[in-house]
Amino acid sequence: MAELEVLQDAAVLIDQQRIAAVGRYSDLRPGTGNVPQGVEVVEVGGALFPGFIDCHTHAVFGAPRLDDHQRRALGEDYRTIAAAGGGILQSVRDVRARPTDQLLALARSRLGALLAHGSTTIEVKSGYGLDAETELKQLRVVRQLQNIQPATLVPTFLGAHEVPPEFRERRAEYVRLLCEEWIPAVAGERLAVACDVFCEPGVFSVPEARAVLTAARRHGLAVKLHADELEGSGGAELAVELGAVSADHLAAISDAGIRALAASDTVAVLLPATMVFLGRGRQAPARRLLVAGAAVALATDLNPGSSPTVGLPLVMALGVSQLGLRHAEAVNAVTVNAAAALGLAGDRGQIAAGFRADLVSCAVSDWREVAYWMGPNAVTAVWTGGSACPVQTGPVSLGPHVEA
Ligand code: NIG
Ligand code: FE
Repeated sequence: MAELEVLQDAAVLIDQQRIAAVGRYSDLRPGTGNVPQGVEVVEVGGALFPGFIDCHTHAVFGAPRLDDHQRRALGEDYRTIAAAGGGILQSVRDVRARPTDQLLALARSRLGALLAHGSTTIEVKSGYGLDAETELKQLRVVRQLQNIQPATLVPTFLGAHEVPPEFRERRAEYVRLLCEEWIPAVAGERLAVACDVFCEPGVFSVPEARAVLTAARRHGLAVKLHADELEGSGGAELAVELGAVSADHLAAISDAGIRALAASDTVAVLLPATMVFLGRGRQAPARRLLVAGAAVALATDLNPGSSPTVGLPLVMALGVSQLGLRHAEAVNAVTVNAAAALGLAGDRGQIAAGFRADLVSCAVSDWREVAYWMGPNAVTAVWTGGSACPVQTGPVSLGPHVEA
């Protein structure tokens, strides 16, 4: 992961949606070798990266959760905040009540902001519905968004994000519904390519997560896990047991969990912005994971409760300063390894012949600056599948508008 090939005076030859060749411009200029004379030339200054891949977001939600934010600042914990009407269930009430067109418009502006910060492939989870109708509503919003904006979206079913209030006393029944009705429906309509579970003491236990994800696998969905986020419970080990593409969060992973991930193809997706926003003062043991031989990716975790951020470059800078990654490791964590966390490693995440022509240019004089600046957006242009994307500049509204 510490290896990154950096070319100077480079050129990328693109044919349709794919990269045809990468090399020195002197070898790839029009009329040289196999490069036709009439090929369109686009000059790019600064540094060109593979399009960033945000492999963990909850981008389809309604309003921000400002009261949670303030309560947490004043020292209240997760359970007290939830008991006061905050937490995930507040966003669930919001998403259940909110018309589809509003959810679509909100998610669209967030995806535009993610794209403007260089993300060309974005995983998006459901999980603020927790009933069949609203979970499907969220996933249909993702499907619609795929047709009206240029980033590739990777939809994940997260019906097991929390037990909804109406099933508090009947959680086994909720798990049964997920396994026997909702997962088959989601897979049947191809509304998701993966299934995720929030596996955490007090949310879904390891046996419950195993049941849900086994059903998901049976229906052809890839498996992901919110694992060992706040308290360790063997989530990483379960991810490996199930052949998950990723185990995400991992701030409380055990030594056995680290060993299990290191010996597997499951990617450790770390979300440093979340731990900073939650003020936990603790981060996943990224260096120990890397030294053990695990593949580490980084993502925003964009969501209204624990990570209201849209910038993978900020997350990379946190990866360096909070997780102890090298700059090269941070870049690989949002490209090659993030692609692997979505099962797309053979298709994107590298500037190499045959890969999808998703690219991002940044106004920097040293490529390491992409994982250095905290806040200003250095992205100057974005391409997906070989086409330049209109990128929004200036202020963006990421929450519902209040009529003046
Ligand atoms: O990844 N951990 C669970 N889910 C989210 C938080 C979602 C929320 O608070 O709305 C996360 O941090
Ligand atoms: Fe998450």
